[in-house]
Amino acid sequence: MTSYDYQEALKNAARTMVRVKNPRRLLKMIVRFIVKEVGLTHASILMYDQLKSRYIFVDSKGDLRIPVSLVRLDRDNPLIRWFSSREHKLKLNKYFLSSHQIKIWLEDTQLFQHRQSLKSQLNELKDVMDMLKASVCVPGFYKDELLGVLLLGHKVKGESFSLEEISFFQTLANDASMTIKTAEYRENLLSKNQELEHQKQELERRLQEIAELRKKEQETYYQIVMSLAAEVNAKDPYTAGHLQGVERLGLMTAKEMGYDLAGHKKDVLVAALHLHDVGKIGIPDHILMKPAKLNEEEWKIMRQHPVKGAKILAPLTGFKEVANIVLHHHENYDGSGYPDGIKKDVIPIEARIVSVVDAFHAIVSKRCYSKGKPIDAAFEELKRCAGTQFDPQVVEAFIRAYKRTLNGKYQSNSALASDGSMVREDHSTGGHVSVPK
Ligand SMILES: [Fe+2]
Repeated sequence: MTSYDYQEALKNAARTMVRVKNPRRLLKMIVRFIVKEVGLTHASILMYDQLKSRYIFVDSKGDLRIPVSLVRLDRDNPLIRWFSSREHKLKLNKYFLSSHQIKIWLEDTQLFQHRQSLKSQLNELKDVMDMLKASVCVPGFYKDELLGVLLLGHKVKGESFSLEEISFFQTLANDASMTIKTAEYRENLLSKNQELEHQKQELERRLQEIAELRKKEQETYYQIVMSLAAEVNAKDPYTAGHLQGVERLGLMTAKEMGYDLAGHKKDVLVAALHLHDVGKIGIPDHILMKPAKLNEEEWKIMRQHPVKGAKILAPLTGFKEVANIVLHHHENYDGSGYPDGIKKDVIPIEARIVSVVDAFHAIVSKRCYSKGKPIDAAFEELKRCAGTQFDPQVVEAFIRAYKRTLNGKYQSNSALASDGSMVREDHSTGGHVSVPK
């Protein structure tokens, strides 16, 4: 091969290497290329195997090829140590070894005057190279890491290698190392990406499962809460249709006040209107259903129902606002209510609406121990307590909306209970509104 041939071959090899993504295939191509183009007894490549922590032959071609599956070199093999070692080798070339050069070094007695160990090292190297039938060994580095060694047999025609040829092999070995390292990096990156993608999918699947489970739990719990509310309602034989009536009055008042009744806010208000007394499920029946005025001790227990209600709703993640309204539906506008004694705007507007609607209902309802008051009297009662128990604006809006909504149906002094939709008793109005005896 002429100098020109090598340059061309090198360019071609470099172009090919860029395209080859499989490192093992690349090495086989190099070995085949060298044996054919240079005409060698054999060419072989040793590569570091990370799993086995030693160097193995990935390929060997030529008449005197090495049985690749039988020969392995440990990391302390003289050849591997020579190339891997960082220690300064004086004038000795670390970037390739030729058996011819070793022979010259060994004959140089000056070289070993103070370095007998070097002589034995070179002798060991010579033995290894003879054993592998190699006349030249060229290491392939990536940074300082010895990735592999290219072993070249003898030229079939008996010539020795020129420095230009050896330089070509060095470039080839280092380019191959770089390509192999890049391919390894790409493969690692790919498998890491695949693993990450797999983990991501797994995580998404689990989150989905959890979300579905949570949704199911929430639905089940919501059903339970609704049935509790119904149970509370059912304990009073006169409350048939109460919740629908309260909902209608509540929405009517909210609309009159310009409350946003689109979507979520309406749902919150409706849920609060339905569930405000759900905590009464925790109040003993002899108090809840007592057909007479409650004594102070009984009132104390009865007044626990907003807190109990909020606690019942707490596990429903979408019901935080509703639970807060339930908690405060017996707060008074002037701060004299319970459980927290908050006042005015601090009380959620929905709670102020529930308070008025519920009280009105209590006043006009037919009760098991008393008759409902006429509507006008109920209006007067609300007005009397506006500013103390009730938000005056809510009371005003409620009365205005009530009269307008019922339109022609509204008649002064007619009992609301006559439409059959709002019959309700409420022990828990706190004594501000005069509940008929
Ligand atoms: Fe209540």
